Amino acid sequence: MAKEEYSPLMSVDPADAEERGENLPPGPATPRFSWMSRFSNVSRTCLVGIFAVETIALLAAIILLVMKPPHRVTTCTIHPKSHEVLYSPALDAVEHEVRVYNVGFEGDLSPFQIPSSPALDQAWSNLYNFGISRITKEEAARLPNKTHAIPGDDGHYIAELDVFHNLHCLNKVRMALDPDYYPDWRISTTNNHIPSQKNATDHVGHCIDWIRQSLMCSSDTSVIVWQWHRALNTSIVKGNVAHTCRKFDKIQQWAKDRMLLETYDPTVHIEDDIVVPIFHNDFD
Ligand SMILES: *[C@@H]1O[C@H](CO)[C@@H](O)[C@H](O)[C@H]1NC(C)=O
Ligand SMILES: *[C@@H]1O[C@H](CO)[C@@H](O)[C@H](O)[C@H]1NC(C)=O
Ligand SMILES: *[C@@H]1O[C@H](CO)[C@@H](O)[C@H](O)[C@H]1NC(C)=O
Repeated sequence: MAKEEYSPLMSVDPADAEERGENLPPGPATPRFSWMSRFSNVSRTCLVGIFAVETIALLAAIILLVMKPPHRVTTCTIHPKSHEVLYSPALDAVEHEVRVYNVGFEGDLSPFQIPSSPALDQAWSNLYNFGISRITKEEAARLPNKTHAIPGDDGHYIAELDVFHNLHCLNKVRMALDPDYYPDWRISTTNNHIPSQKNATDHVGHCIDWIRQSLMCSSDTSVIVWQWHRALNTSIVKGNVAHTCRKFDKIQQWAKDRMLLETYDPTVHIEDDIVVPIFHNDFD
């Protein structure tokens, strides 16, 4: 793997990094912090448990009129149930809406179905070029995985919502499909290699497989239907059906409000006292 030019989640390719909102010039940033969002459902479950234990202990003490209630050390571990989701600082931004997709064939094309051009690049860039975020330490402390502090920005941590990485990846796959326009995104597994151009095979391979896993992870259960077509005397599959969607605008706004504007120096290590919760993979 060509490490020097490829890093799957935090690109070191300057053009790519810039596109994804990294290494941008300094500017104001607006940290947001909602106290109410500090406790996830999991934490709330733990708290309810603690309160229940305390209440029972107190009642026992009153009834028996003996000494102190028993003291217990309660360790909170994360046992996600099948209906629960892991903490994300953007969970509060999640709202749903019904959307009908563009079918994507002649007659119902989306604005993204235009030939490769600066306008198309801009349209894609507008979807995710603010995707690297700056979150508070309180938010970072609740992540299921540890993230790194931003050097020179006390109490703030770097993060990226995966939807923006997904969109970045899909854009790279799109570019790889038009290597005459995007010579640095040519995949070179066959006899189409051009020595002066980059070999994007590994990066594109990573992206396709990441998108595959994301689609399976999301497992959209919206239903595509068949309807009778009188003129053709046949039922035909219909793509213009209703989908339950997360409001992308809201997720975009969340990221725009927290966009990392300072240059992130990944070579500076900052120790902190954040301990990730113990995660038990028993969703079933
Ligand atoms: C993130 O957490 C999961 C679940 O505990 C673990 O399997 C994985 O190795 C962690 N990855 C990193 C980069 O911390
Ligand atoms: C491009 O990279 C892929 C994956 O690493 C490799 O299989 C292929 O041989 C490379 N192409 C050339 C022409 O080097
Ligand atoms: C559709 O089926 C009906 C009933 O069998 C028939 O009368 C009609 O001619 C058919 N129309 C076409 C376009 O095949």
